[in-house]
Amino acid sequence: MSERIFVTGGCGVNGSWVVRDLLERGFEVSSFDHSSDTSLMPDLRGAFELLVGDIRDGALVSRLVHQRKPAAIVHLAALVGYPQGRPDPKLVYDVNLGGTLNVLEAAVVGDVPRVVFTSSKSAYGVVTGAHARPTYQPVPETHVGLPAPASFLSMYGHAKVAGEGLGFNYCAAFGIDFFALRFATICAPGKLARHGPMSVHSRLIENGILGVPTTFGQGGDERDDIVYVRDVAQAIGRAVTTSHHGAEIYNVGQGRPFGLKDMATAIQRRFPGAICNVGPGYDFMKVGFGAYNVLDISKAGAQLGYAPQYDLDAMVGDYVAALERFGITPMAS
Ligand SMILES: NC(=O)c1ccc[n+]([C@@H]2O[C@H](COP(=O)([O-])OP(=O)(O)OC[C@H]3O[C@@H](n4cnc5c(N)ncnc54)[C@H](O)[C@@H]3O)[C@@H](O)[C@H]2O)c1
Repeated sequence: MSERIFVTGGCGVNGSWVVRDLLERGFEVSSFDHSSDTSLMPDLRGAFELLVGDIRDGALVSRLVHQRKPAAIVHLAALVGYPQGRPDPKLVYDVNLGGTLNVLEAAVVGDVPRVVFTSSKSAYGVVTGAHARPTYQPVPETHVGLPAPASFLSMYGHAKVAGEGLGFNYCAAFGIDFFALRFATICAPGKLARHGPMSVHSRLIENGILGVPTTFGQGGDERDDIVYVRDVAQAIGRAVTTSHHGAEIYNVGQGRPFGLKDMATAIQRRFPGAICNVGPGYDFMKVGFGAYNVLDISKAGAQLGYAPQYDLDAMVGDYVAALERFGITPMAS
């Protein structure tokens, strides 16, 4: 009998690829999600167990995990953007931090030996000095940034750091392996429809497919690390299966700086008529602080064997193929 992995947020932009990768690795998968929307994984319907529920319901999460006795929990469920209006701190922390606590408690109750946590570069907050523009020296896991100014992103990053702290303490108290993966900016098919125009690389690709020009008023000098969703799934699969034990944080990206023009050039190689206009300066997403950086991925390489497989050209090619394969209509934005 094959081992089972319990995935939270398995219907999401990243979760759908994580479920696909784990199935390809021969695992059985139980996906727990608030949503039952499997439109990003039409090829996988019936191939995994779909459990619908709220990560804030700790008793439910513990009961489902205890019944299934998985070999690991991969925790992706989170609020990753906030709709219109002011972010509600209680909601953000209940889901993004309380949800992680519920997952760790479920691991204790269900005797699960390993939790893989999807953290983020936002755990670094505001990156300064040589790691910031214009030098973008790769940020190691030991780097401590400054708190981000009050905003959804600040709560999001804080909940990631605090979630990592929870995991380290549960590892110390109960011996549960806890691996937190801090992802660079992720490029993924379906992200534009789910997360909106903050998904700048999806905007560029989908506008390129449709022949619609993309314009950014500023940010032509900015650089950022970009990782393709299948490399995200690769890293998670490696964290699930590694022979390492204990509690660790790993950066996951390409480990290189990219500007919007680099992505635009890759898109133009595929769609020669694609137009991207980018004004000068920094901060193309207009977040108002230094949220851009390059991750030092050497630790994930050395300990997990992680190596990114998708450069910008491969990313564009696979993205376009995935939209076609899964029947996702590109959006102009
Ligand atoms: N997208 C990125 O660039 C990025 C970067 C770094 C880290 N991450 C992390 O990766 C993970 C997945 O992100 P994503 O981009 O796939 O987001 P997503 O919104 O596509 O997926 C998150 C999933 O969690 C589910 N969810 C939300 N609230 C829930 C709740 N209360 N109970 C149960 N399920 C709930 C949603 O239904 C969704 O399917 C998140 O933890 C996110 O913080 C994302």
